[in-house]
Amino acid sequence: MTPLLPKQPRDWDDAREPREPPPMPDRQDEPGETSPPDTIPAKLAVEELERTGPVESIPDEVGEPAPVPDPSEVDVPRALAQEIRRAMKRYPEKRSASIPALWAVQRRYGWCTPEGIREAAAVMGVTPGYLESVATFYDLFHTSPQGEHQVLVCTNISCWLRGADQLLADFCEAAGVEPGATTEDGKVFVRGFECLGACDIAPMASIDERYYGPFEDGEAETVIDQLKRNAEVLPEKRLEDRAIAGGPKASADKRLTKHSVNKVKGRVG
Ligand code: FES
Repeated sequence: MTPLLPKQPRDWDDAREPREPPPMPDRQDEPGETSPPDTIPAKLAVEELERTGPVESIPDEVGEPAPVPDPSEVDVPRALAQEIRRAMKRYPEKRSASIPALWAVQRRYGWCTPEGIREAAAVMGVTPGYLESVATFYDLFHTSPQGEHQVLVCTNISCWLRGADQLLADFCEAAGVEPGATTEDGKVFVRGFECLGACDIAPMASIDERYYGPFEDGEAETVIDQLKRNAEVLPEKRLEDRAIAGGPKASADKRLTKHSVNKVKGRVG
């Protein structure tokens, strides 16, 4: 049987021994430059202290975190409050509803506005800071204004192998923006994104929270034009309508028509 450890010392055995750091080279001062002294006179230290003042007098620039808002002091739109309360009922712990609550805020205001977060916090009985920490953690929440329409082009491996980089470039060119920017008229925001979990329709994009794909040449331009006109976006490329995703329409992909899910009578056209 092969022994677990070789009997001879190995080349890297000494790597476990702590080593002395190499000596620091002498500092060569530039001409005219003087090194800071290692010590300062005690009197100077006192003067410095007097100039700075005691620590307590330094103003606290961050301030106290906002408390849980008093529900009687915050006017929350009825529909928003109802949606958040419905989400809270689904969980034993109210904080678990933070994500659906923030979605509700973002859908209503276009992004997670400070006032929207405060309204959600008042309904949930948590601090606005708590909801803000959730909103800033997740990429899909926006804590600053974004375009009216959101185009997130997946550039992860499956989509990338099927031309996602070019697709993102096409969207940006059609919109006239760099990735991660909004058009001047505030209509369309375009950015690349990590895997959106719909690799089977690569290359794909999420447009206003709906999945579309697989995209073909020239379709990015069509989409941007449709978004700017507030027209319906490529209905034949919308994932949710396909039978495989539980929708009413047949997929354009003939492989899917053979799937048992699509053999239910009336689901495949
Ligand atoms: S790699 Fe694009 S959706 Fe997964």
